[in-house]
Amino acid sequence: MTTLDHIPALRDAALAAVARAGSLADLEEARVAHLGRRSPLAEVLSGIGRLAPDQRGPVGKDANAARRAVEDALAARREALEAEEMGRLLAEDRADVTLPGDPHPQGALHLITQVRTEVEDVLLALGYAIADGPEIEDDRHNFTALNVPAGHPARSSSDTFYVAGHPDVALRPQTSPVQIRAMEAQQPPVYVISPGAVYRRDDVDATHSPMFHQLEGLAVDEGLSMAHLKGTLVHVARELLGQGIEYVLRPHFFPFTEPSVELYVRWTDRRGRAQWLELLGAGMVDPNVFAAVGYDPERWTGFAFGMGLDRIAMVRHGLPDLRLLFESDLRFLEQFA
Ligand code: PHE
Repeated sequence: MTTLDHIPALRDAALAAVARAGSLADLEEARVAHLGRRSPLAEVLSGIGRLAPDQRGPVGKDANAARRAVEDALAARREALEAEEMGRLLAEDRADVTLPGDPHPQGALHLITQVRTEVEDVLLALGYAIADGPEIEDDRHNFTALNVPAGHPARSSSDTFYVAGHPDVALRPQTSPVQIRAMEAQQPPVYVISPGAVYRRDDVDATHSPMFHQLEGLAVDEGLSMAHLKGTLVHVARELLGQGIEYVLRPHFFPFTEPSVELYVRWTDRRGRAQWLELLGAGMVDPNVFAAVGYDPERWTGFAFGMGLDRIAMVRHGLPDLRLLFESDLRFLEQFA
């Protein structure tokens, strides 16, 4: 057998190895084995110079043709394997756009926030502006300027949360300190409301929580009377609870208003029992409060009110227990989303 006779077998073996290669790594192995420097075909090509002169031409021609055939087969197989690989990657990576998406629940405002913004809207429409104040207050704003005398039970540490080591600093037990801050910050006329959290040392039960929410209102102007106060409160109550509500104003006492009242509304509980429910405290601003902020009590008149936002939510939605509002149980909260 001459070298020339070997060439077809070398070529066919190489082509078979290329065809068998199932991966790019296999293919590289086949290339090294059949076209590499130490491969039989490479040896044929490098040995041409040592052949008899009449053999050199035909062997060179066949060997080169064989090499090109193997190179072409390698290139074709590489392309096919790469395409396969790409297809596999794409398949792994594929997103089925028809699958339902991951559930991404939409948030909603907490019921108390909903009630708060509703009350705000009613009062903003009457010309009130929203004022803010701190939840940790000093004695002057919590009590003294509000005409709360020394020894008043609200000042005791069994009613109010004091900051340890600071007998003059406490969590505000009502939003009324914002009245003082609002008046200190501006001259009359004043029409402000201020919603926020308040803190009292109450034991937790169905209608009490050591933290709850109030919305304070303050109007200071010339010539304000009980009639303005009553008209404002009844308007707010009707807007929130319905035009047909029954209400009653009862005399009460607050250190910072004189006279003082509480507004009760007729409300039917879940068992169908009609009850009177206290919605808010209010009254005409006490002249001592004006004096404390440097307003002339002879010239200015005013009224103030403080309503329980949590209470309004309870009344409106017939909630059996105040604690539901603070437990963050989605089964409850979602009903108002
Ligand atoms: N601050 C009073 C309370 O918490 C309510 C109130 C506010 C009364 C304003 C009169 C005027 O009970």
